[in-house]
Amino acid sequence: MKGIVLAGGKATRLKPLSKITSKQLLPVYNKPMIFYPLETLLKGGIKDILIIMAPEYSGHFLNLLGSGKEFGARFTYEIQEEPRGLADAFIIGENFIGDDNVCLILGDNIFDYDFSPFIQNFSSGAVTFVKQVHDPERSGVVEFDKDMKVISIEEKPANPKSNYASVGFYIYDHRVIEIAKNLKPSGRGELEINGTPSINNTFLEMGELKVSIIEGLWEDAGTFNSLLRANIYWAKKNGFTV
Ligand code: TTP
Repeated sequence: MKGIVLAGGKATRLKPLSKITSKQLLPVYNKPMIFYPLETLLKGGIKDILIIMAPEYSGHFLNLLGSGKEFGARFTYEIQEEPRGLADAFIIGENFIGDDNVCLILGDNIFDYDFSPFIQNFSSGAVTFVKQVHDPERSGVVEFDKDMKVISIEEKPANPKSNYASVGFYIYDHRVIEIAKNLKPSGRGELEINGTPSINNTFLEMGELKVSIIEGLWEDAGTFNSLLRANIYWAKKNGFTV
């Protein structure tokens, strides 16, 4: 299993913070944000990791993370020239993934959850992870039945069919590369994981998309409030009384 951290993007919602440096290098309590997704992959036993960055601050990522040796891992770097969408990770990562399976984690998604059983037990197809939220219309929304069979996936729907948001962690087999290469941009002009068309909707049509509910913390730290919540969570977890 290989891992990809997608750490490019525009970070418009965090301006002016994101005018100083990349969103994924901003502090979350005592570490740069990207340490959290990296540690989520490392905890899952993934040691071969591709980091995809926007061009602007790519040197900072290299200075910070280096070869990966200090993390007991091997880091590879690629630049995404334009934020073409989440599914672009599998086009950029084609050579890196090769014939292996791959986990994608979004560089601003912070978890306190152990994905290793899913990583170890994965054989083929796709696994998407969800968490119950109060505002599903802000996320990719996954509808599934009592047997955990996925019925639909919609990106930021006005009328969500469930309260389960798709979190920024996904597992695929290598066919994800060809699926990504054949995707057309969605209505909002992006190569999508959850929209229409998208990677997950393609695996759903193939009957090969599984869903799993996660526990523990999930923050998409891309807004002022969620970034603050992530800081407070890790401060408290480290014994600091906020
Ligand atoms: P988003 O938070 O959806 O996008 P963004 O980071 O550009 O922020 P904003 O909406 O405020 O402008 O992206 C989720 C994660 O994926 C984040 O870590 C950035 C990354 N990303 C890329 O690396 N490339 C892309 O093309 C996109 C769309 C996102």
